[in-house]
Amino acid sequence: MFSFLKNKKTIESPFSMIGVDMHSHLIPGIDDGAQDLEDSVNMISKLRELGFTRIITTPHTYKEYYPNTSEGILEGLKLLKSRLQELEVDMEVEAASEYFVDEHFAELLENRDLLTLGKTNYVLIEISFFGAPPNFEDYIFQMGLAGYQPVLAHPERYSFYANNFRKYQRLVDLGCALQINALSLTGRYGSLAMKTAEKLLKNEMVTFFGTDCHNMGHANQIYQLGQSSRWKKYKDYPFQNKMLFK
Ligand SMILES: [Fe+2]
Repeated sequence: MFSFLKNKKTIESPFSMIGVDMHSHLIPGIDDGAQDLEDSVNMISKLRELGFTRIITTPHTYKEYYPNTSEGILEGLKLLKSRLQELEVDMEVEAASEYFVDEHFAELLENRDLLTLGKTNYVLIEISFFGAPPNFEDYIFQMGLAGYQPVLAHPERYSFYANNFRKYQRLVDLGCALQINALSLTGRYGSLAMKTAEKLLKNEMVTFFGTDCHNMGHANQIYQLGQSSRWKKYKDYPFQNKMLFK
């Protein structure tokens, strides 16, 4: 049934220069991403078609809403990988997590119980859309002391930073890498997020590109971005995604 997924060529696919997607929600049933294995497989095959050949999927770890653990995420990854193998889907999949920065995260950090991106020490984090935690800089500092390197997911979507652009430079200076979302460039998250994503790119402050794909609606919009003239402007930006799979 899924034979169409096999051996898809990636030459000239819009995101093949990036190659590695390092932010998505593709493990079924553990957060607000994929609903079931079929949903996961459909999204992964779409990402394959777009030129991604490796995926580090990042379910939320947010105690209040998605109380995932490293073990649970890796268990979900195992099921997903075995389904992909059964269907002979040509995609390398690993897992990390998108950690919400709160007291629970502080405990995980203290216990060194964080899933890093690939073989690196990068850890994907997110904060509230209403405001950064008051001690956010301290978290960044503590992560560094513990040997981790923070990557802030979708910085362009935080309007309190977007309206105060110099704060981004402060984060970068503190050692926090920035990852923009594909869909921010389509305007899906509003014009402020779109303009901010572009400004961050123009200022070469972005390290990573992620799809943050949660569902087929997102996957289809990412496909549309790949066809757009806007993407042609940024496709040669030196995103560092491939370094995650050295
Ligand atoms: Fe996400």
